[in-house]
Amino acid sequence: MTTLQSATDPLPYLTEEYRADPYPFYAALRAQQPVHRHPDGFWAITSYGAIRQLLYDRTLGVAELDYGPAGPLHDSMLGADAPKHTRVRRTHSRWFTPKAVKTWTDLTRAEVDSRLDAIAAGPGSFDAVHDLAFPVTFATISHLLGVPDADGAKVRQATYDIGKSLGLAPTEAEAAGTAAAFDWFVGHIERLIADKRRKPGDGLLDAFLGFEDEGTMSHEEVVASTTLLFAVGHLDVTYLIAHGIELMARRPDVFDAYRDDPQLREAVVNETLRLDTPEQFVVRTTTEPIVLDGHAIAAGETLVLFIGAGNRDPEVFDEPDTFRLDRDVELSKHLAFGGGIHGCAGQVLARAEAHVVFTALAERFTALELAGPVVHDHSDFIRSITALPIAVR
Ligand code: HEM
Repeated sequence: MTTLQSATDPLPYLTEEYRADPYPFYAALRAQQPVHRHPDGFWAITSYGAIRQLLYDRTLGVAELDYGPAGPLHDSMLGADAPKHTRVRRTHSRWFTPKAVKTWTDLTRAEVDSRLDAIAAGPGSFDAVHDLAFPVTFATISHLLGVPDADGAKVRQATYDIGKSLGLAPTEAEAAGTAAAFDWFVGHIERLIADKRRKPGDGLLDAFLGFEDEGTMSHEEVVASTTLLFAVGHLDVTYLIAHGIELMARRPDVFDAYRDDPQLREAVVNETLRLDTPEQFVVRTTTEPIVLDGHAIAAGETLVLFIGAGNRDPEVFDEPDTFRLDRDVELSKHLAFGGGIHGCAGQVLARAEAHVVFTALAERFTALELAGPVVHDHSDFIRSITALPIAVR
């Protein structure tokens, strides 16, 4: 895609202003043209109703999307259409049931407790990303895959480098960074596979290798699926947890409500996801002509569904820019996990991990306070906090 980014561009997604806070841009565009043909050649969809309709539209696809150097992700479920999508997704399903998730989050809880012991015994302040959210989510996904909890910093860096190529218009430098990150990831996973072949275990990577041996998955699908899980296993959950802790530090009433009223806990997680959606959009292509909001859209067009915009649509959410604890949990219809056949496969796990961390904090401490500047590294696609200093009382 080429990039115009003119002064009149309603979504100037390369600018710092947009990346810091895209929501006013979404609001202005949604009010005027919720289905908008962007000059860079994609359709920008910003209304809740249209996004939801498109998420469940089985005529849309992902197999033809150009992921650039992240192309091998087409061998994971994320980049595949049916029937390949159905086959690959089925190989994962029993690992993400509520019963399985309970097993993984017992490990998360042990990891969180030992980290909070160290924090309580230390100076009483910590970095909520580096000392808590990232290491516990990385330990959890490593345990689920059945691989050592090692090389976390490299996996984290490679994940963000790959994410940059999945933005709206990656620069040449970002594309080069993704290619290098992919090389590293593939080498890393091949080493883990070689270790597994010598010494099998009982993790999801072992299950994938069993599927490869019986011919249900190709080797490329095993590597791409493991890459995807390594990435999504920490990326958005780290953001959900860090952003939740930041909100609880800024709004003591939210922290108190989480501790004192178990009925409100799901609402806290839903509002955190709705208010600042970790992945701002999902992308589809049309495989046949469609008509949307009066626009005739040909086959082969790219649709960018801004779920971050849908989550602030005033037609669905009163006072959409406000974190409110009194939204009906049954109506927690936010779009942060996408929907339809590509709806997040790890959402039960993601919610459970967030609850483990928030519960452990609420049980131990009476207050969380910001102890320094919060540092962000948001892209147009992925929201990210890189430093979150917190003091506990
Ligand atoms: C707060 C945390 C998370 C958020 C906000 C999130 C969000 C999303 C979204 C929006 C999609 C849809 C992508 C699309 O339609 O193109 C997705 C897909 C997916 N997510 Fe998550 N995710 C989270 C955590 C996780 C975790 C912890 C895992 C697993 C360890 C996971 C595994 C997946 C997989 C495998 C897919 C692809 C599903 C498919 O294509 O069928 N996610 N996620």
